[in-house]
Amino acid sequence: MSLQEIKIFLKQKLASKIDAVELSSLIGMLIEAVTGWNRMQQIVNVNTAFTKEQQLQIEDYAEQLLLGKPIQYILGNAWFMGNELMVNEHVLIPRPETEELVEWIISYASIMNKPLSIIDIGAGSGCIPIALKLSLPLCSLTGLDISKEALAVAEINANNVKASIEWIEQDILNTAALDNTYDIIVSNPPYIPIREKANMQEQVVGFEPAIALFVSNEDPLIFYKAIAKMAKQNLSTNGQLFFEIHYDQGKAILALLDELNFHAELRQDSFGKNRMIRASLK
Ligand SMILES: C[S@@+](CC[C@H](N)C(=O)[O-])C[C@H]1O[C@@H](n2cnc3c(N)ncnc32)[C@H](O)[C@@H]1O
Repeated sequence: MSLQEIKIFLKQKLASKIDAVELSSLIGMLIEAVTGWNRMQQIVNVNTAFTKEQQLQIEDYAEQLLLGKPIQYILGNAWFMGNELMVNEHVLIPRPETEELVEWIISYASIMNKPLSIIDIGAGSGCIPIALKLSLPLCSLTGLDISKEALAVAEINANNVKASIEWIEQDILNTAALDNTYDIIVSNPPYIPIREKANMQEQVVGFEPAIALFVSNEDPLIFYKAIAKMAKQNLSTNGQLFFEIHYDQGKAILALLDELNFHAELRQDSFGKNRMIRASLK
């Protein structure tokens, strides 16, 4: 089959499952993954024949897309703040909203204009500490996660860009205090109440790690509560907490932080949804 025929095959196979605009972009990505050709080279090579092996690879990718698997897990990579990261079933696919949280931290740290020590709780793929280390090379970065498998991915990602980061395997819900103090504690913890699962896309529910997504309906703020309590002992003077939050939980988390003696500021993401919080002790 030529590249042109491969495109037709993919469109016919996937059109009922994926909308046309997204599908066109996915097809370009699959062809690039199999041939190494960028979009311009794909135009030039429109009549070039695929090898049998390349064809089989494309067919396998198409089957995975039909099952609803996100392209990032199929190809094993995702982009975050201009960095290509390895991802697998043990880590959340980094989201654009989280990039906005990181941008907020970078602008705050730049104003502070001194090397800061920063910990990310629930580091997953390592997207947050890696992006922070690359933008703020004088700061010291630590990433903590309960998942050994996620930390293995984070470590590979950090090594790939030569970002020196300390990794800690720890359950934050069973940690009264950390071993060190930090100028910034950041977290994008699991925050989706499990009752929302039924209304979520199969791409997320079926493939992303549940441990990264869900909290109980009874105690949806459990991570914010645990981290804020711990932060009272582990934030340096004038230290800051940065959280990504569920758009629906802004007011509740502000109330929780107030109760725990923090000043807090709520910000919206670029979709206008309450999405992040900065807090410091009163
Ligand atoms: C929403 S994901 C965030 C991943 C990454 N920071 C990002 O922004 O894409 C939450 C992360 O918290 C980790 N996690 C879940 N429960 C935890 C716990 N009790 N202690 C520490 N980390 C936990 C999960 O393994 C997951 O990597």
